[in-house]
Amino acid sequence: MIRLDDAVALVTGGSRGIGAATARAFADAGARVVITHRDSAAAAEEVRRSLAGEGHRVIRAPAADTKAIEATAASVAATEGRLDVLVNNAALTKVIPHGDMEALDDALFDSILATNVRGVFATVRAFRKLLEAGDGGVVVNISSLAAKTAGGSNIAYCASKAAVDNLTVALARALAPKIRVLSVAPGLVDTQFTSGWDPAVRQRYLDRSPLGRLPTPDDVALAVLAAVTHLPSTTGAIIPVDGGRPLG
Ligand SMILES: NC(=O)c1ccc[n+]([C@@H]2O[C@H](COP(=O)([O-])OP(=O)(O)OC[C@H]3O[C@@H](n4cnc5c(N)ncnc54)[C@H](OP(=O)(O)O)[C@@H]3O)[C@@H](O)[C@H]2O)c1
Repeated sequence: MIRLDDAVALVTGGSRGIGAATARAFADAGARVVITHRDSAAAAEEVRRSLAGEGHRVIRAPAADTKAIEATAASVAATEGRLDVLVNNAALTKVIPHGDMEALDDALFDSILATNVRGVFATVRAFRKLLEAGDGGVVVNISSLAAKTAGGSNIAYCASKAAVDNLTVALARALAPKIRVLSVAPGLVDTQFTSGWDPAVRQRYLDRSPLGRLPTPDDVALAVLAAVTHLPSTTGAIIPVDGGRPLG
């Protein structure tokens, strides 16, 4: 393992699921980790306490609240004084069958885009200076297989993840050479996010996955860590963590 002993990593939406696993992976590698969340302060604090090492922090920063994101960047500048890794993991969704267009109203559509897309952009914008300092930094955006297949919890969610992959490419170009930007695109992972799925959908995913298993939050976290530590010449790439599902 490549150690990240002097590094600072920020994981948005780190209070459970993939974000919590990613926070653990970076702490295990020696980094100080800042976790953000929106509603689940107690869960975020529990994750923080569980992390290896010291100096980890929790900050409340809803992904659609640009002022809160900018305040978070100011806090990291003042306290940690650096940011080496930014993982844009926080996202919003709701399971709505794609044919039920009435259920996906404007308010939900807008809040999915504001959180999942504008939130990613606003977070990178707020942390750009810190990421550019020193040897430069890495942004990993958690996208989804749904970006490619348009098969996900609802149509706006799928579109939001396609937009995230597009942002990854545009930002990789715009922020080079100091900042690398990648997407990690999970397939179906068992978390609270997918607990509303019909079990038959989950089973179908499993049946059609060449690797015969769902990716775990730790699998996704390892891919994020590897993108930071083991892919120094890669930027603007979308890294799938989906058990090979598109091949099935
Ligand atoms: N699970 C899957 O199958 C799957 C597949 C592909 C991609 N993904 C992506 O993986 C990422 C993590 O998903 P997950 O499955 O780990 O979900 P999860 O278990 O529901 O966790 C989501 C995390 O994001 C936080 N969050 C939600 N809305 C937020 C907001 N507006 N502002 C700040 N934080 C917010 C939540 O904390 P609060 O409760 O405090 O808001 C929580 O920490 C998401 O980007 C998702 O799209 C998941």
